[in-house]
Amino acid sequence: MFTDRTFLITGGGSGIGRATALALGAAGARVVVAGRTPEKLNKTVALLGEQAVESLAVPTDVRDPAAVDALVAAAVTRFGAVHGLVNNAAGNFVTPGIDLSPNGWKAVVDIVLNGSFYCTRAVARQLREQGTGGSILSVIATYAWHGHPGTVHSAAAKAGVLAMTRTLAVELAPLGIRLNCIAPGPTETEGAGAALWADDAARAQVLSTVPAGRFADPAEVADASLFLLGDRASYLTGACLTLDGGQWLGKQVYGR
Ligand code: HXC
Repeated sequence: MFTDRTFLITGGGSGIGRATALALGAAGARVVVAGRTPEKLNKTVALLGEQAVESLAVPTDVRDPAAVDALVAAAVTRFGAVHGLVNNAAGNFVTPGIDLSPNGWKAVVDIVLNGSFYCTRAVARQLREQGTGGSILSVIATYAWHGHPGTVHSAAAKAGVLAMTRTLAVELAPLGIRLNCIAPGPTETEGAGAALWADDAARAQVLSTVPAGRFADPAEVADASLFLLGDRASYLTGACLTLDGGQWLGKQVYGR
């Protein structure tokens, strides 16, 4: 389904981004991974190489619109076209909003919201020029709609990405460009673990909120992402798939 298609993945050097890159590669795609740390991107490219997948690492800070334009240009130069994007790059730390510095707010909003817009805009422009259509997926979190204490920067930014997705899904549908979101619950990755459940007590506390009783595996998030990115979802746009083991609905009050 993805043969001869090229997908860009931001934050492709670790966690859900790397798992998605590997899954797309295994499904036949060419993969371009972007992120701030070349060593992490190179590791993803090496893993893709073991599967004989064509791939490219482009060190990129998604907060820089010129760098994002250069990322898309590099993908086109190498592979001739692009067919989709996964806005996966994120930054996060837990802190009370009242104590959050303007720079801390800006760092997360710049990566998550502004970066997703810059990447979406650049890829959409390329897709319009190609006349091919394509699909764009953004990784958000359920606190985009229910909020969560300690994550005001991330929750606000991810809510913005959801609004962006719904808005551009309508604007870009006539061009054959689909935009969707996926909202994974707690996922077993180094980045999320370090930022959100740094010790055993915090980990147990997070797990106690998941009715399914476990973290998500990055590979199962990637599986769901491939459905949203691929042709089986060709009539699906402006949607958000929640994949959280029942976490956000699990608000048991009575009968404990
Ligand atoms: C308070 C903090 C802080 C913390 C940083 N800051 N960490 N404030 N508590 N723990 C403040 C700094 O003091 C600074 O403000 C400002 O944020 C910018 O910090 P820098 O380190 O200079 O920024 P930068 O190097 O750009 O790093 C960005 C980052 C960083 C977001 C702060 O954590 C990052 O790059 N993370 C990427 C990886 C990551 O977080 N992955 C987790 C994603 S998991 P001042 O005012 O001092 O200058 C995820 C899952 C969510 O998102 C969904 C769960 C269900």
